[in-house]
Formats: sequence, C-alpha cells, structure tokens
Amino acid sequence: MNRVEARDKVTGRARYAYEYPAHGVAYAYPVQAPVASGVVRSVDASAALAMPGVLAVLSCTDPPEIGSGDDPELAILQTTQVVYRGQLVAAVVASTLENARAAGRAVRVDCVARQHDVRLRADHPGLYTPEKVNPNFPAVTEYGDIAAGLAAAAARVDTTYTTPVEHNNPIEPHAALAVWDPGGGLTVFDSTQGPSADRDTIAKVLGLAPDRVRVVSPHVGGGFGSKGTTRPHAILAAIAARAAGRPVKVALTRQQMFELTGYRTPTIQRLQLGADARGRLTAVVHDVVEQTAIRTEFAEQAAVCTRAMYASPAMRTTHRLARLNVPPPSWMRAPGECPGMYALESAMDELAEAAGIDPVEFRIMNEPRTEPDSGLPFSSRNLVGCLREGARRFGWADRDPRPGIRREGRWLAGTGVAASTYPARRRPSRATAEASGDGFIVRIAAADIGTGARTALTRIAAETLGAPAARVRVEMGDSALPQASLAGGSMGTASWGSAVVKACEALLKNGSSGSADTAEDVRADAAFARHAFGAQFAEVLVDSATGEVRVPRLLGVFAAGRIVDETLARSQFIGGMTMGLGMALMERTGVDEWEGAFTGKDLAQYHVATCADIQDVDAVWIEEDDPHLNPVGAKGIGEIGITGTAAAIGNAVYHATGRRVRDLPITPARLLR
Ligand code: MOS
Repeated sequence: MNRVEARDKVTGRARYAYEYPAHGVAYAYPVQAPVASGVVRSVDASAALAMPGVLAVLSCTDPPEIGSGDDPELAILQTTQVVYRGQLVAAVVASTLENARAAGRAVRVDCVARQHDVRLRADHPGLYTPEKVNPNFPAVTEYGDIAAGLAAAAARVDTTYTTPVEHNNPIEPHAALAVWDPGGGLTVFDSTQGPSADRDTIAKVLGLAPDRVRVVSPHVGGGFGSKGTTRPHAILAAIAARAAGRPVKVALTRQQMFELTGYRTPTIQRLQLGADARGRLTAVVHDVVEQTAIRTEFAEQAAVCTRAMYASPAMRTTHRLARLNVPPPSWMRAPGECPGMYALESAMDELAEAAGIDPVEFRIMNEPRTEPDSGLPFSSRNLVGCLREGARRFGWADRDPRPGIRREGRWLAGTGVAASTYPARRRPSRATAEASGDGFIVRIAAADIGTGARTALTRIAAETLGAPAARVRVEMGDSALPQASLAGGSMGTASWGSAVVKACEALLKNGSSGSADTAEDVRADAAFARHAFGAQFAEVLVDSATGEVRVPRLLGVFAAGRIVDETLARSQFIGGMTMGLGMALMERTGVDEWEGAFTGKDLAQYHVATCADIQDVDAVWIEEDDPHLNPVGAKGIGEIGITGTAAAIGNAVYHATGRRVRDLPITPARLLR
C-alpha cells in the first residue's frame, strides 16, 4: 500500500510536535553544564532577565517542584551536582525562540569542576557486572566446559572488536509543546515512540494523575529508540509552561540532541571461538565491556544475541559496565543485537577462514536444533534458508575465498556474508473498532515514527473486516486512544496488530463495535524462542591508494514471519541495511577526553549514509508461516535489517584487502595503517 498519510506529509498538512499552534506560546531554551563533572555554584541570570522578551529563568540552584519518577534524567534541574557535560542546569523562557536562545547564552553558570573520566577501556578499574542487561536478561550465562572446548579446537580465534559512540539522529529533532488547561490538566504535543507510556511517565514525574495528562503525537520524524522513552525536553516544556503561565515549546537543536536524547554505548567485545576439524563449534565466549552513566544504569545486551545463534557444547556470555561522566547511553536501533552481531559475525568469519571452510557453509554446519542457551524450541527458524537463498541470488558459489587478490584498476574487490537476528516479541495493547457510515474507524494509541505503522494497521484491519482499505481509518498517536505499547523493539506490528485483529473480530461478532485487550493473550503465550533471522551479503570496492570503501551491492534475505505489506517491509529492511552501512563505514561520535565532551555534534561531522553512499541495496524475504507468534503472524522488521550488515561489509573489506579492521567505523585511515 501507499502510506495512508502520504498526501498529508507531502502537502505539509501532517503536523509534527513543534508545529502545533498555541495561543500566546512561549519558547524554552536549555542551558547545559559546561563541565563533565562538578558542582554548579551559581547561576547568574541577571543579564538574561534584562534581555528582550524573557519571561523566566529556571535553574538548578532554585529547583522547580516536581513529583517522582524512575528516570533520574527526567528529574530536571533538581540537583547542582553535574555528572556529565551537557547536563541540563538551567533554561530560559522567552517570547520567541530567538530571544530564548540569545538569553540562554547570556546565563552565567559558575561551576566547580572535578576530575572527570569519559574513557571506556577494557581494563577500566571500575568495571562491574550489572544485575541484568536490557530488557531483563542475566548479564552472565555459562554452560559446558569452555577450557576443554577451546583446548580441543582444531581452529581457534581470540579476537577483539570495538564499536564507537553512535547517535540516533532522527531527522525530526526532539520537540514538545506543553499546554496547561485552567483545571490543571496538561496536554503535551511530543515527538515520541509511545504516547501511552509517555503520558504515564510525564504524569509521574510531574506528580499528576495519568488521566490529567494527554500526549498527542500523530506524526513522528524518526526515532530509532531516541524517542522510545520520555526525554527531558518534554518535562522542560511542561515545567516552563507552568512557570510562564503560557503554553511553551521546546525544540532541541541537533547539537543538544547529542547530550539529551541518548546514544548507543561504545563497546569492546572479545570473542573466543573454537571449531573442530569438521567445522563444529567447540566453544563460544563473548565478553562485552560497555559504558553507562553515573546516575543511570543502561546495560546494553550486546552478547544476548550470541545465546540464540549457534550450536556449541560450551558457551559463556558476559557484560561489564564502566560508570563514566557521560550522558546516559540508551536505545538505538537493535540495541544489543546491532553491536553484538557485528562482533560475533566478524569473529565467525575469522574462524571460518582459520578452519578453511566457506563462511556460508560454516554457519549452516553450526545450526542449532533448539535455542543453545535456553534449550527452548524455536517457534520457527529459517537462517539456513536465508543463507542459501542469499548465496544463490548473490552468486556466492563463484567466490574465490582467498583475500586481497581481485583488482579492478586501482580498486580491490571483495564479498562478505553475515547472519542477522532480532527477537520477535509482543506486548499488551488495547484497541477499538467501530462501524461508521460506510466504513470503519479503528482506534489505538500506537505510534507511526516513519515506519508506515498506520498503513500496516489499516491493512490488517481491512483484511480482518473484509473491507477495502480505503474504507478503514486508523486513529493513532494520541494517549487518549486505547492504551498501546511502544513503537520499539520491532514489536509494533505484532503487538498492535494483535489488538486490532481482536477488536475487528469483536466488531464482526457484535455488529457495530468491538474492543480488545491483549494482556491475557500475551501472558498466555507459550514458551518458545521467537526470533527473526536473516543473511546479509555485501560486495565492496576498496581504493588501494586512498582506502576509500564503496559498497556497490548489498543484499539482505530475511525470514520474519508474515510480511504484512511488501512496500513498507522493503523500506524497513533497506533502511536498516543502509544504517548498517553507515555503522560500518561512517558513524562515530568523537569523545574529547580532555574536555569530557562529545565532538562533531552535527550532521556535517557525524556522517550518516545517504543516497549517494548507497548503490544497489536490495532486500527480499522467504515465506515463513509461524503459528506461535500472534494473530498477524508477523515477527517485526524494524530492526533486523541493521543487524549483521556492518559485519558483512567488514568481512567483505577483509576479503578485498586481506586487512581485518576490528574497530568501527572502517575509515580510510584505519585501512591504510
Ligand atoms: Mo528501537 S531502539 O527498539 O526504538
């Protein structure tokens, strides 16, 4: 289907959070800590308050009243202790955005700086093992005899991969408009991946009952996880509006987003793998080191994917964190699987070569019967099918495995492969369906962050109702609608689709309306290992003089349950793969250790892959009929496309050049070194 909101978007009728009109609106501009660790001694707002249009200055030296909450980042302006550079320490409210920004720069923040530490390293003295990694997995798992497995191996690798700080960079910067009504109720037009959860969080942080808060968010210009939880800008808008007695808008600048909206933790990942003479894994060890923040623990589950991938008689996975003077890391597309599969699938390529086995065949030889770590049966698993279909389409059979021997002029050519995976989960949601005129209205507080969720749900509802899609209207993106789970974790279609199907079925039974709540269904889901799988194939050309890498061909083959809509699905898959290409070759946020600061905080310096970087990228899928998922039969497709891509490209670069760059991104400088 074409997107149902396509016309609204191209004509500018679709409104994003910052674009809503409000009578007498004012603007708040954040003031950020100029040190990475220390104490704010004073905030001098006298110059700012004398500037044109300034209505109020909020400061951590005079904390505004708030309620409680679980996220220390949302307790804004409540402490003078600074634990990272860029922490919110004050804000100016003024009649225009320009006045607010000018006055914000005139606020004098006097800090006593302390020694800071922003450098992640494998021997950091503060490394500790968290109780859990996200969302709720043990940090450490181990079974079998690792030492014996490694000792018995005919081929072995012990290799360490690193990934840098990466930022989500959705094209719509985070923004909110907060409007208090005379009765003390609050409406927040927010750019969020989940209106229901956003409403609950905002209410709690402000000490309001949830039914006093409404979050409106019909259109969102990307999130990739950075809008998956409430961010400080939304709380700031509400508090500033209360202080100014007017509606207030907050729009973060691109630079401010780097400190206030999360990012992917850097990782240091050591892989120890062994294989016997027949190519069977004898041991798998995946040890991960990551960073987290002083007040907030975020434990990225980078080694959890390894627990589901390959059969091995012995396996250990561990995660350790260092608390640094950094903004809290957070969700970024395929948190866990994305860096984890990069390291695992790169190491698998190294081991395949050490064992003298084709990397496609090597993965197939190590296909497990049940999920290795849990022993659970897979609801369905078609990694082998994806590898075989990809190999056939890509022309893998003709590949000469020797690295660094194919030249096309000054370009070295190579190909690489890697597996993809992402969990298939669903969460409780509610929906209603109603006959209206000659059509139907479906209501659910789901979010469309650019994925096409509104269109997919329209199609799902139409198919269930036996009506043409043009006669179905889906209302979403508003917390006043039936409560729904996040647009996150690739769970949207599975979670919301379950509720929509159920509500539409209830309508068909009752005549004119139906409602559904899937909480019981989700609780009753049988124990299966549910994952989508895929295979990524990459062809690269490396300039032998400059080290520049080009990717003339990327092919992803996925097995992700039922594909609801081909156009939308292809867009999600190739979008994920494109982001994976960016991860492989470009994306990196600099860390200035002296200043304790992120550097290169804009799209001129933080490079994301764009059209000119992409040549032939294609995604296909194989039919998968999995009865153990949900009424839609879908596994979710938002994140699997990014997993494995960077490894496939890195493996292709090795094949082209004979150089294994183990630190992302694979820049010309690193290749030439
Ligand atoms: Mo995504 S990082 O699960 O919003």
